[in-house]
Amino acid sequence: MKFLVVAALLLQLIVLVAAGRDFYKILGVARTATKKEIKKAYRKLAMEHHPDKNQGNDEAAKIFQDIGAAYEVLSDDDKRKIYDRHGEEGLKDGGQGHDASDIFSSMFGGSFFNMHFGGNGRGEKQVPRGSDVHIDLDVTLSDLYKGAFIEVLHTKGVFREAPGTRKCNCRTEMRTQQVGPGQFSMANVKVCDDCPNVKLTHEHVELDLEIEPGMVQGQELKFHAEGEPHADGEPGDLIFHINTLKHSRFQRAGNDLLTNITITLEDALTGFEMEVKHLDGHKVQVKREGITAPNSIVKVAGEGMKSFDNNLERGDLYITFDVEFPTLNFPSEAVESLKELLGQGSKQRVYNGLESRFVKGA
Ligand SMILES: *[C@@H]1O[C@H](CO)[C@@H](O)[C@H](O)[C@H]1NC(C)=O
Repeated sequence: MKFLVVAALLLQLIVLVAAGRDFYKILGVARTATKKEIKKAYRKLAMEHHPDKNQGNDEAAKIFQDIGAAYEVLSDDDKRKIYDRHGEEGLKDGGQGHDASDIFSSMFGGSFFNMHFGGNGRGEKQVPRGSDVHIDLDVTLSDLYKGAFIEVLHTKGVFREAPGTRKCNCRTEMRTQQVGPGQFSMANVKVCDDCPNVKLTHEHVELDLEIEPGMVQGQELKFHAEGEPHADGEPGDLIFHINTLKHSRFQRAGNDLLTNITITLEDALTGFEMEVKHLDGHKVQVKREGITAPNSIVKVAGEGMKSFDNNLERGDLYITFDVEFPTLNFPSEAVESLKELLGQGSKQRVYNGLESRFVKGA
């Protein structure tokens, strides 16, 4: 009995090895998944199973390798085609097989986890660093509302080895020299090492920026070591700063959203029902009964931006109404009936304008 089970397991193992891994299953995507879906799935899994986050967990390390391999194949049209037809076996001589960490870095830049999760960082010794590069990243309000991936093609300088040598690691050292019998003098001398020569080249990297729902104006997205290179040390960082683009209908105030709606005088006097198309296309119902005065503000709870710090929290939507008056004058009989209907009489009041204009509910 036991033998049978072992035999069955062995058989299963052999079948699995022969057929190779199911990359679609590993990434949890359909065989028809788009590149974007594949990237998204990879991104999520890679973060979860990254070795820096799962130290000493062999299982996670294995999964990380698998998802790296799966992403490498499925994100490449040619490899995916071969894989779909012949399985992993078909790719064996296709020269694939990058290290899972390399695949990860190429997508997230440098040592992602060191800066996102406070890992070992840059070490204590003073290694010279190139400058950080700061770039404003224009992001629409819709993308900040929904979250988005933005691909950026970044051209960075990289020092590559070149023939010959150059002076490097130069420093000043104190030297004692004998200048005569029993006479010494101390002097500062400049000493350098000989290093292989370098030449500045340019490389293009495709960076994948994740805009998370609720990110705020000026927020930083940092890519470690994608900044300016340093011939004798490490490159600086590349830092994107979110710059919110103006939206035609919504304005952000903290996590709240503001919008304006013009209604007719008729609607203002008798009530109305309408839909407001939100930033992700969903419809917000707005219903008013009775009178809506010009400049009144209606709060629609929970229709604001997600809070970046806590995605379960949302701001509110504030709608300010203004009223479009008819441009035609009423005939005199109508004026009389209107006066009667409105019953306000003719009176004026001069005031300083700092009154509350708040109306509750929508
Ligand atoms: C609403 O209108 C006011 C006054 O014209 C303006 O200051 C504000 O920016 C507008 N808000 C939006 C979201 O367009």
